[in-house]
Amino acid sequence: MRKKVILITGAVGEIGQALLTKLSQSGINKLLTLDLQPLPPEFVPLSIHIQGDILDRDMLTRLITEYEVDTVYHLAALLSTRGEFAPELAHRVNVDGTMGLLQLAAEQSQRRGKSVKFIFPSSIAAYGMPDLYTKDRDNAVKEWQWSEPTTMYGCNKLYCEMLGNYYSHNYQQLADARPIMLDFRSVRFPGLISAFTLPSGGTTDYGPEMLHAAAKGDPYVAFVRPDSRLPFMAMPDAVDALLGLAAAPIEKLSRRVYNVTSFSLTAGEFRDKVCESFPNAEIHFLSDGKRQGIVDSWPSGLNDDAARRDWDWTPLYDLDRAFDEYLIPNIVGLYK
Ligand code: NAD
Ligand code: SER
Repeated sequence: MRKKVILITGAVGEIGQALLTKLSQSGINKLLTLDLQPLPPEFVPLSIHIQGDILDRDMLTRLITEYEVDTVYHLAALLSTRGEFAPELAHRVNVDGTMGLLQLAAEQSQRRGKSVKFIFPSSIAAYGMPDLYTKDRDNAVKEWQWSEPTTMYGCNKLYCEMLGNYYSHNYQQLADARPIMLDFRSVRFPGLISAFTLPSGGTTDYGPEMLHAAAKGDPYVAFVRPDSRLPFMAMPDAVDALLGLAAAPIEKLSRRVYNVTSFSLTAGEFRDKVCESFPNAEIHFLSDGKRQGIVDSWPSGLNDDAARRDWDWTPLYDLDRAFDEYLIPNIVGLYK
């Protein structure tokens, strides 16, 4: 008999490590992880880890003959800044990789006669604000507004949301016997801030980077103007959002893609918040034209009413709690 597992791709990344920790703390131990990187030693006992590429179809096919996957957390991706340096590679990993997994999850749903849940973290990058005036005016963007991304990563995320919807509703719509569909669900995250890991290759990275640099006693130059405003969220809330959406009864869901957010602040306000805990922090601003352009195209805030209404989403950490109860105490411990 095949072993039933939860599959987490990109498990070595920031969200992956936080998700693995939370699932194992909840006593869930049937975890299969997949990443280009090896698992850090402290995570090794928590899952069966495959070091490999999501683009390796033979390896994925072998995996689903060996395991019965009932939920996929598909986290593997190239993030926004990295995606602009290598757009074709980003497309292969972010779109072809997702498409391959959606196909496998669709086949797996058929095989077991029950939908596989496919949980996909999308992003504020799926939006594209035309100018700063509109960004300032429309500061709580709804899921269906401004869907005109300007980055390869944003285009990839928006299209993969559509693919997920297709595989959940319309897959093989002209076939005689309609297959059992997979159950795709997605959250559009703001920038995430972890106390335990540093981001790389993203464009919201200036926030967590300035905080971690201050905790280490290093100077930091943020690549944006101080007035740049974006929404953010503490990592434990991001993990709770993925798990909350995965656990929601399907009949409660009025959509497949939901905004989730916690607090919005400018880069200058982020610096001020960091300086409350690290008064000697040396944080400067030197706007990088290209990365600034990406930040300017992302919304300054999200409307997450649908998630709150449909599956009781609510972040535990507002700005003050995120810093006072999660970020600062843990970061201080990390660099002691
Ligand atoms: P991350 O860069 O920390 O982790 C991504 C992981 O994917 C890495 O461990 C990497 O090795 C792995 N990976 C990349 N290409 C792969 C491949 N071809 N095969 C197998 N593994 C591969 O990113 P993260 O912050 O943990 O983000 C996880 C997901 O959440 C991504 O899809 C990202 O787009 C999304 N997301 C993140 C944020 C954020 O602020 N961190 C915000 C919105 C959405
Ligand atoms: N944090 C991510 C990035 O900046 C947003 O999805 O790319």
